[in-house]
Amino acid sequence: MKLPIRDKIDLGATPYEAFLEKEGLPVIRGYFLEDFKTVEVKPWKRMGALGCYLNMGEQDDTDAYVCEIPPTSQTLPQRHLFETLVYVATGRGATTLWHEENAKRTFEWGPGAIFAIPLNVSYQHFNVSKDEPVRFLGGTNLPHLINLFHNEEFIFRNPFQFHDRYSNEPDFFKHNVQLTIRSWETNLIPDVNTFALDDYPMKGKGVRIMRFGLAGTTYGCHIQEIPVASRSTFHRHGPGAIVTVTEGTGFAMVWREDEPRQRFEIRPGSIYSPGDLMFHGHFNTGHSTMRHFAMRGRSPKYSQDRYRTPLHYMIPFDEEPPEIQQEYLEALKKNGVTAEVNIVKE
Ligand SMILES: [Fe+2]
Repeated sequence: MKLPIRDKIDLGATPYEAFLEKEGLPVIRGYFLEDFKTVEVKPWKRMGALGCYLNMGEQDDTDAYVCEIPPTSQTLPQRHLFETLVYVATGRGATTLWHEENAKRTFEWGPGAIFAIPLNVSYQHFNVSKDEPVRFLGGTNLPHLINLFHNEEFIFRNPFQFHDRYSNEPDFFKHNVQLTIRSWETNLIPDVNTFALDDYPMKGKGVRIMRFGLAGTTYGCHIQEIPVASRSTFHRHGPGAIVTVTEGTGFAMVWREDEPRQRFEIRPGSIYSPGDLMFHGHFNTGHSTMRHFAMRGRSPKYSQDRYRTPLHYMIPFDEEPPEIQQEYLEALKKNGVTAEVNIVKE
């Protein structure tokens, strides 16, 4: 039986859509972006940098953006009542945080870094390079917050200080605690491609994952790794996932029941975003490990995936359309990957 897909009821612009219009930036929609490292960005007045927005995969409570900071430049100071996750793709820089002007604290980052801005803390990003731009991907829950309060003054100029999330601790960006298997709490991941992950055999043989809570955010994210000649099983959930490849090459496949499957060729910088209840899986077809960083759902400490229903199940490998595995084997052969193919089951 084909499941009913949500129809969008048009009642005019939501507060978020009205805000987006005022931002005046390009907005990328759909399920796939080939490479956010090279996508066109335009002057972004509020941020004092360059940028574009992502509203992909029928996102409603969350959005994403690409931000570029030219060499030796910096963003304008920001403060807001929505959470922001950051993944740095290229360039080196630093971020300064403060509740009060006289208590600024700065941390440095480079390519592959992941961190979050503590809620409603003032911050400014700096590009420290003389010749290389910084480009990063931001993920936020701004749509949820601005639609809830529909008051930009409240969201962007709110004096409340969440000292439980950040209180100028000198070792704030050294905080590291493993909560349980596959769940970690930290405030800065220096390199997405070297962080140690835990086995995740139910997702596929050799697949590894770590889910994160960053700087007390409720907005969740994870890093997943798929070894050579391996792939994931398919699953589905609600909209909003922003998945970006951080190393390796392969393809992602998405589909809804009774609709054609869509295949996206992926490499570092590619982003795919499955829509509401759209099955999706990832396939490593290259000669090296494939990793991705995904922003989705809630952080481990704040109810990650607590409300799964039978609709959100994973398709057992034996029950998926058999031509998918055939297509995968053909892609490996075409690429000359001769490693023994890992079957999905343990
Ligand atoms: Fe997913």
